[in-house]
Amino acid sequence: MNFNPKIYEATAVLFALVLLFGVSCVLSHERGEAIFYYFSQQWPGTRCGGERGCCYPKTGKPAPGFLIHGLRPQNFMNEDLRNCEPKDQLIPSQISNMTSELKKRWPSLDCPSRGNMRYWKSEWTTYGTCGNYVLNQTQYFKTALLLKSEVDLLKVLIKAGIKPDGGLYDFNTAFEAIRIATGYMPGIFCVKDKAGNRLLDTIVGCTVEGTKYNDCPGMWGSDCGSTFKFPPPA
Ligand SMILES: *[C@@H]1O[C@H](CO)[C@@H](O)[C@H](O)[C@H]1NC(C)=O
Ligand SMILES: *[C@@H]1O[C@H](CO)[C@@H](O)[C@H](O)[C@H]1NC(C)=O
Repeated sequence: MNFNPKIYEATAVLFALVLLFGVSCVLSHERGEAIFYYFSQQWPGTRCGGERGCCYPKTGKPAPGFLIHGLRPQNFMNEDLRNCEPKDQLIPSQISNMTSELKKRWPSLDCPSRGNMRYWKSEWTTYGTCGNYVLNQTQYFKTALLLKSEVDLLKVLIKAGIKPDGGLYDFNTAFEAIRIATGYMPGIFCVKDKAGNRLLDTIVGCTVEGTKYNDCPGMWGSDCGSTFKFPPPA
């Protein structure tokens, strides 16, 4: 039999395409539905002390400690999902029994302040709508508060000797303390100040069912290096 490389190549390509098509059909069906959420918390001392600054809404300063930064849906291809239903607006009555908690733990920090309700509305439309079939409006905000209340990250760090005093701390100590307290591998992210110091900024966890922390697919990252600074509270 004559071996014709051209035909062999074409057959191989066709075979690969058919396989890829089949696999992607299965994946887009299963993985499109089964999303998970990244839950991130932000250290206000870093944000407010930095170039962006922060502006508290008229309703006053939030509770001390880390603040909720976002509950953001991902699919299993690890793509963040945004603006899935731009017309789906948050109805304030859906969260009316939670607003006092949200004010304390998930306030808008943007300048100039557009107020909390507008901020929550934009969080819902931008991120929440992409997981509407997992967590509806009420559940979305309730879940964020629940995850926030499960572990007090500031207490965990202080207990590990890592205090918000502007000092320099060991990254692995922080990572291990959070991993043990939460049971998941956290993502820990820093921002650089003008002098090039890395300041602790956000700590990211993840939830699958929307009820408790889980380890999620995807690699946990960090850009903090081996040491970071922990700025004083805002
Ligand atoms: C607010 O109401 C919803 C549904 O009515 C309930 O699931 C939730 O637990 C309540 N949240 C608080 C903080 O009471
Ligand atoms: C959200 O889901 C909960 C639980 O399934 C349900 O009780 C509630 O009525 C839903 N709220 C809306 C606005 O659909």
